[in-house]
Amino acid sequence: MERRKVLRLFLASSVAAAISPNLVFGKIPFQQHLDFSQLDFGPDFKWGVATSAFQIEGAHDLDGKSASIWDTFSHEKGNIKTGENGDVACDFYHSYEQDLDLLKSLNMTVFRFSISWCRVLPNGTGEPNQKGIDFYHRVIDACLERGLEPWLTLYHWDLPQVLQDQGGWKNRDSLAWFSEYAELVSKNFGDKVKNWMVFNEPSAFTALGYLIGYHAPGLKGFKNFLPTVHHVCLAQAEGGRIIRKNVPTAQIGTTYSCAHVDYYTSEKHDKKSAERWDVLLNRLFIEPALGMGYPTASFPILKKLEAYIKPGDLEKLSFDFDFIGIQNYTREVVKKMGLIPIMKGLEIKPEKRNVQEITSMGWEVYPEGIYQIIKQFAAYPGVKKIIVTENGCAFPDEVITGKIHDLKRIDYYQRYLKQVLRAKQEGVNIGGYFCWTLLDNFEWSEGFYHRFGLVHVDFKTQKRLIKDSGYWFRDFLG
Ligand code: FCB
Repeated sequence: MERRKVLRLFLASSVAAAISPNLVFGKIPFQQHLDFSQLDFGPDFKWGVATSAFQIEGAHDLDGKSASIWDTFSHEKGNIKTGENGDVACDFYHSYEQDLDLLKSLNMTVFRFSISWCRVLPNGTGEPNQKGIDFYHRVIDACLERGLEPWLTLYHWDLPQVLQDQGGWKNRDSLAWFSEYAELVSKNFGDKVKNWMVFNEPSAFTALGYLIGYHAPGLKGFKNFLPTVHHVCLAQAEGGRIIRKNVPTAQIGTTYSCAHVDYYTSEKHDKKSAERWDVLLNRLFIEPALGMGYPTASFPILKKLEAYIKPGDLEKLSFDFDFIGIQNYTREVVKKMGLIPIMKGLEIKPEKRNVQEITSMGWEVYPEGIYQIIKQFAAYPGVKKIIVTENGCAFPDEVITGKIHDLKRIDYYQRYLKQVLRAKQEGVNIGGYFCWTLLDNFEWSEGFYHRFGLVHVDFKTQKRLIKDSGYWFRDFLG
């Protein structure tokens, strides 16, 4: 490592030690400067981490699991920036007990995870795979034994490849496939799992996977995107109904990738472009779920959705969710760009806006954005409760003599948490906050480069190392 960097880190920790006697006893200094504490969030507030099957499990072809679209996509040359794949990932399939011990040691109480559809239904539909089902029973039991609440997401992007071969979400049959899968999972785990989420971020997996082609299955264009949107919206509500039927006492939610959208200048055209981004990012999936229909007035191309809407569909788009999951990392700043078709707008990247604080993903650190987007979602009359189901940041961590002083990550969490608290203190019903994420893992098309974990993973040895941010949470929650 560069000498200057070592010096900087040394100075940072000496200054911290000087101002914080706690450091001597292994506590993390930043807590000293906080003007809020865990108690301000209330005794029932849930604290946890979020994860997803494909990003951590590995064991890609073990015990009867079939390939998902992400297995296929990551094995195709050129799709993953680093040329890596998720075959092994964090090997959570084998290390879940150790990893849940780590989570427990951080004083967290919730483990949010997703089920791999192709582990439990390798043919997409039909014959279930008992070995796959048993694995999730083991994970859930291991949570319960440790006093951790398992929060289960049905779908975090890893559609069975055999279903993609039949068109995936573009095919209206996806509604029947997903219903069968939701039945199986809710019937199998409903007696142990009380908190459920139908989808992880529909705007992300439909736009990145079926409009831009940057994620699996790599399709592009509105002709792929629009039918996908409608089928996913139908499945979102149907998934909720199926869980409600099989687990009547469940708390049921679904999660949204969302970000406050600002316009670059107050010029009319920038504002219009920002409004369209807001529709695509923040409104397209929640508004039908709340019974408001598609936000076509603000984004006319969405009128083309009508081609896919069958009689009776509109009434089936809504479901009475108990909570809405907000997943926020940054904000968007949008400018009109005449040359960009349909959207007619472009997000101005932080580095072009002279933004000082950017994560390794190139995302602006903008804590107030989480407050703004929580308020935006809370303003819908149908939203009863909000859980921050993901928030976090990637920075290039360095292991120095067996430690990771990830001060930027601690700072990020503290500033974002303060904004969550601000919204809560203004009366928004916010019931929990989950970090993205426990372990450094496979960040989709970016590979393993970006590290989001509270726990560092050495992908050569699978060794885990709690970062200072993990210890900070331990002390904050302890
Ligand atoms: C979210 C995804 C999650 C992870 C984080 C960084 O959009 O839900 O899987 O990739 O971003």
